[in-house]
Amino acid sequence: MAAEHFFRISANVLTKRRLAEIVPFGSPLLALVDQVRARTAPINEYGVDLGTPVNGTNRVVDLQVTPIFEIPGDILIMLQERSAAKKMDQQLTYQGAARSVAGLGSMLAHEVRNPLSGIRGAAQLLEDVVEGEDQALARLIREEVDRICALVDRMENFGDMYRVEREPLNIHTILDHVKKLATSGFARHIRFKDDFDPSLPPILGNRDQLIQVFLNLVKNAAESIGKDASDGEIILKTAFRPGIRLSVPGSSEMVTLPLEFSVTDNGGGIASDLMPHLFDPFVSTKAMGSGLGLALVAKIVRDHDAVIECDSNQNRTRFRVLMARHSDI
Ligand SMILES: Nc1ncnc2c1ncn2[C@@H]1O[C@H](COP(=O)(O)OP(=O)(O)O)[C@@H](O)[C@H]1O
Ligand SMILES: [Mg+2]
Repeated sequence: MAAEHFFRISANVLTKRRLAEIVPFGSPLLALVDQVRARTAPINEYGVDLGTPVNGTNRVVDLQVTPIFEIPGDILIMLQERSAAKKMDQQLTYQGAARSVAGLGSMLAHEVRNPLSGIRGAAQLLEDVVEGEDQALARLIREEVDRICALVDRMENFGDMYRVEREPLNIHTILDHVKKLATSGFARHIRFKDDFDPSLPPILGNRDQLIQVFLNLVKNAAESIGKDASDGEIILKTAFRPGIRLSVPGSSEMVTLPLEFSVTDNGGGIASDLMPHLFDPFVSTKAMGSGLGLALVAKIVRDHDAVIECDSNQNRTRFRVLMARHSDI
């Protein structure tokens, strides 16, 4: 029935036609079928347009083409229309992002280590000679450099991030730390507002990685607000929303992600055509941007079995991270 509906051809007629007669002329699907036959191994292809004069334009599908081993020569083709496949598509995007970040990771790690040890040494010297408030700042430099070093070490073995150590954490400690880093640096001119639910249960996570997630989000928020704005505001919010359940792609399981941590800014917002590519690596609208911030955020969020969502309009942009409770894992 779904196929009748998709192709706008009755089952009766569909079953009498050859595949080449119902898909667009020269469609990549035909080549895929040949390849699958030749290799006797399944192949997936994403974002193929199967629109024809009969069934309309822009019918973009994800294709899974697989040999039926029990019936040699027969092939099963599954079409999943993009709208239905959207959540899944996002997940695939994140995997792609993770892969390209991996190669870059080891290169960066190598280049970054030397200047870091210089910075660390200098900060330590400073820490010994300055006093009071300044000493706290010097310590902050040293601690943050140590954190970068740990991240760099891990980047070198990017694949191992899956096995990164996790411990029960209080999200508010993490958000407070991020706020301290931001307000003593790049977001000095921006007003911060907390809206914390102090009764939230702990989460299971990696402290350094989660700091990186929220620091990246806050940094983007600050950059969107701009250096000259005088009414810039960033809201850090935590909330318990027991209603949020998501299906896990590729299984019928549902997970409960009741903990919501969000970063909201009143900067210029995100153009709607950027939205589908937001978490792709190397996507940046900034002159000096790397476009790696959100790719890494997506990767870390995924490794924490969490989900990140974004909604934006011209005067408000919100990134929400949804996570499970420690006790639910
Ligand atoms: N809070 C935000 N407000 C507006 N645009 C944003 C925000 N966060 C991310 N973006 C957009 O997403 C792009 C990608 O972000 P990111 O991956 O961190 O790379 P970079 O910051 O290096 O550009 C940014 O260039 C920007 O256009
Ligand atoms: Mg960024």
